[in-house]
Amino acid sequence: MATTFVKAAESVEQAARIEHVSKSFPGPGGQQLVLDDISLDVAPGEFVTLLGASGCGKSTLLNLVAGLDQPSAGSISTDGRPALMFQEHALFPWLTAGKNIELALKLGGVARGERRGRAEELLELVRLQGSYGKRVHELSGGMRQRVAMARALAQDSRLLLMDEPFAALDAITRDLLHDELTRIWAETGLSVLFVTHNVREAVRLAQRVVLLSSRPGRVAREWRVDIPQPRRIEDAPVAELSLEITEVLRGEIRRHGQH
Ligand SMILES: Nc1ncnc2c1ncn2[C@@H]1O[C@H](COP(=O)(O)OP(=O)(O)OP(=O)(O)O)[C@@H](O)[C@H]1O
Ligand SMILES: [Mg+2]
Repeated sequence: MATTFVKAAESVEQAARIEHVSKSFPGPGGQQLVLDDISLDVAPGEFVTLLGASGCGKSTLLNLVAGLDQPSAGSISTDGRPALMFQEHALFPWLTAGKNIELALKLGGVARGERRGRAEELLELVRLQGSYGKRVHELSGGMRQRVAMARALAQDSRLLLMDEPFAALDAITRDLLHDELTRIWAETGLSVLFVTHNVREAVRLAQRVVLLSSRPGRVAREWRVDIPQPRRIEDAPVAELSLEITEVLRGEIRRHGQH
């Protein structure tokens, strides 16, 4: 009943292994079962999106994988400690973009003399070269999420957990960040577990889409997405599969009487 971060030296077959995980929270009428017997693996280098209606338990599951909370039953193991990125950038406003990244490098044990260069490299990776000295309030929403992505990458994890990181962005900025994330994923070989309630975003990004049902959250269905990258959110095959998934999602929502 715990999340285990497997050490780098040990060989692991999966980037994340979620086995029979359930999670309950105390509610007004006793324990409320939020996640029920979830089993899910993320393979090394795989990009998986976790899709589901609002309140179905996506963030709860991601937090369990991140080790921020413990499952009520079942177990989770990951290939090293994962990096986590949220909808809100959670950057320190009194630090510059560069210093926000350097702080993550410092916490990761990178030597002082190497931090500046590495931070510049990471800013270049997210196409923010030249923004090292900018303060958070000087950056647009999209730029802040780029810095947050660079900071997550600074943790040098093999698994990146993303909780609706682009949900607050306008459509064009979000499209651009989809392109950047797909490129970075291909360049780094990272494993990604990406949470969203946006079906098209899930299909645009993932190799595999896992749909969670609501109340309680269970794995309802999953789809393998064989559409070649780079995809566009408006591509016909993306739209077609999104429609199919939306129908199933609607059925799930109707069944649980949420709307
Ligand atoms: N710490 C907690 N204590 C009690 N209940 C909680 C706690 N965290 C989450 N919940 C409940 O668990 C359920 C799932 O919440 P969660 O935030 O995981 O959903 P979600 O799928 O991420 O939703 P959204 O798409 O709106 O972000 C909700 O009913 C929520 O109220
Ligand atoms: Mg959430």
